[in-house]
Amino acid sequence: MADGMEQLFWNEKKYSVGCDTIDQQHKQIFGLINQLSTASSEMIDDEMIMAILEELLEYSQEHLRYEEEVMEKCNYADLENHKQQHWQYLEKVSALSVSAMGAEKEATKDIVTFLNKWWGQHILAEDMKYRPAIEKMKGKI
Ligand SMILES: [Fe+2]
Repeated sequence: MADGMEQLFWNEKKYSVGCDTIDQQHKQIFGLINQLSTASSEMIDDEMIMAILEELLEYSQEHLRYEEEVMEKCNYADLENHKQQHWQYLEKVSALSVSAMGAEKEATKDIVTFLNKWWGQHILAEDMKYRPAIEKMKGKI
């Protein structure tokens, strides 16, 4: 991979949080980040990059909302803290996107670096914490 940028590869064992819908959404997000990563390191026109970025932002926002609903239904104890992490993500990503709107490849690479790191860590460190709550509610949500 050019520029030392890592790609996120879906791995059921590593990333599954115990809810198929959320897993599928995470998988989709990984795919969009990888598309953005490839687009930003190749000679792909800026309009295309912006289209992928917009799709990613919209999709991840919908996903985070869905995940919060699931956590709520499971009576997940640390919901407020988790929601706060989502807000911080959305704030950070929209700030980074504003700089990318100038259609500079460097700015897009900064976003990809941030997204790779954030999603990998967030799923493993934070989303995994609600896994037991989901497992308790299996079949009821
Ligand atoms: Fe989350």
